[in-house]
Amino acid sequence: MRYAADPHDLLRWYDAHARALPWRVSPADRAAGVHPDPYRVWLSEVMLQQTTVAAVKAYFERFTTLWPTVGDLAAAPDAQVMGEWAGLGYYARARNLLKCARVVAEDHGGTFPDTHAGLMALPGIGPYTAAAIAAIAFDRPEVVVDGNVERVMARLHDIHTPLPKAKPELTEAAAHLTPETRPGDYAQAVMDLGATICTPKSPACGICPWMAPCAARRAGTAADLPRKTPK
Ligand code: ADE
Repeated sequence: MRYAADPHDLLRWYDAHARALPWRVSPADRAAGVHPDPYRVWLSEVMLQQTTVAAVKAYFERFTTLWPTVGDLAAAPDAQVMGEWAGLGYYARARNLLKCARVVAEDHGGTFPDTHAGLMALPGIGPYTAAAIAAIAFDRPEVVVDGNVERVMARLHDIHTPLPKAKPELTEAAAHLTPETRPGDYAQAVMDLGATICTPKSPACGICPWMAPCAARRAGTAADLPRKTPK
């Protein structure tokens, strides 16, 4: 397997085209030294676990207005938090959200752990969410692999192995591309590429920053990847 794509080409594209999202520090602000608030990154990642960006935006704004810090959320009555969560679904997430806020407030002095292992130890945070928070909030070069990233990697390297069998191969490809510089912006850039250009249907290959190194683009197979084992 050759990994011919350059993460810096994607970062240049992200600098110009990053989506403005309420939990995101723009690449320009990030370059000027603004750090993301780990509480906001954590809250957004938990909300985004099984819910779309479009649906999460209003909930995120409401939660952060009501509870601007993890200490505020930790002190909120359970019934109020569950009520505000209504509509997002998967209520175990809301219960773990409160548990996690209280552990961070009470056992960590209101400061989120800044490592993958430390984050994994918290309620409701699995390997993917820990990697996303460590990368986005703390600029750690974690390999962040969600469905978007799997699709981008399958196409970039024209990997025809069906999911879920392809997961290790796709994760290895993602690991090879993750840069030491700006890993937080890079993680968000791959998400944006998958959401806006390297989309499941009718990918916009003609305006893709990774058009040149994309093996599926060359082979004409982009729209057919990733393959999935029939259920
Ligand atoms: N999906 C999961 N995490 C995300 C994020 N931080 N931005 C956009 N989409 C996401």
